[in-house]
Amino acid sequence: MSVIRAVPIGCGHYLPQRVVENSEFAETLDTSDEWIRTRTGIERRHFAAPDEKTSDLAIKAANMALESAGLTGRDINAIVLATATPDQTFPSTATRVQAAIGMDGGFAFDIQAVCAGFIYAIANANALITSGQAKTVLVIGAETFSRILDFTDRSTCVLFGDGAGAVILQAQEGTGTASDRGILSTDLNSDGRFNDLLYVDGGVSTTQKAGVLKMAGREVFKHAVEKLAASGEAALSKAGVTSADVDWIVPHQANLRIIISTAKKMEVPMERVVVTVQDHGNTSAASIPLALSVAHQNGQIKPGDLLLLEGIGGGLAWGAAAIRW
Ligand code: UT7
Repeated sequence: MSVIRAVPIGCGHYLPQRVVENSEFAETLDTSDEWIRTRTGIERRHFAAPDEKTSDLAIKAANMALESAGLTGRDINAIVLATATPDQTFPSTATRVQAAIGMDGGFAFDIQAVCAGFIYAIANANALITSGQAKTVLVIGAETFSRILDFTDRSTCVLFGDGAGAVILQAQEGTGTASDRGILSTDLNSDGRFNDLLYVDGGVSTTQKAGVLKMAGREVFKHAVEKLAASGEAALSKAGVTSADVDWIVPHQANLRIIISTAKKMEVPMERVVVTVQDHGNTSAASIPLALSVAHQNGQIKPGDLLLLEGIGGGLAWGAAAIRW
């Protein structure tokens, strides 16, 4: 049976120039490189320059993705941009990217599912393509989490970084089997009863200020491993494959211990897991496409590979996607 698949045809990423090593936090806080490394796997992260906005990072990642696909902005029908740190309350950051890449038609919008944002964006782009609404979709995850950190709170400020990643998906015919290239399945979940485990203490309709991030880390950790493994298994089952078929897990990069425990629960060896948390920290919605693009650039991910993307964050919101590259 012939079906429409949303097939990846290019990817890109951008990291701000400024690299912040763990040791920099130890200068002002009661923390250490050793604590951060052993508890999280993070060694460094990138912070945006004061005048660098989320859209600036997104535009650079988008341009790299366009180049790798051999396309220009005019070839893109839609932009779906995941961020929890938009340039402004409105318009959407996606429309800033739309103007910057010279897209003179189509449509662009933002998605807010925090660290699960890229999975939600991929699922939405897939729906736009398979329903015939768009042929070529630019999917971006971009964040400047350094703007919402409390730099006096050692339990959160050492964990996050800034960056952007992008993937271009295009409609292609498939056979409807798991051997097709493209998005094979997605699995989305949220549970608002856990709002208070991870949130920002401000916002337009509450304080009229951006606020800072608050997290009950240990609690989120416990949910993360269990929910990521369950969602990963659900996505694989919907795609008609098993974890033995997975070439690469591309997980949300929050904590190396979460990544290891989830892979173990899914019985996927760490040799088949993309890990960039040591260099990026947690970049929220940008973390999965950043990891994907870096792994593609260094030759880990090859055409035909079966990828399992998975992420969890504030909401709680979580999900997974099975994609044949
Ligand atoms: O992206 C969204 C999803 N987010 C996540 O997935 C994050 C999930 N959570 C985590 O990754 C981990 O829970 C953390 C990395 C946030 C914390 O690691 P933990 O092993 O759960 O540590 P903990 O919160 O249980 O804290 C252990 C100790 C505490 O001291 P006491 O109470 O045992 O004396 C903390 O005060 O470590 C202390 N601590 C630190 N010490 C040095 C917390 N942060 C730091 C720090 N440096 N930066």
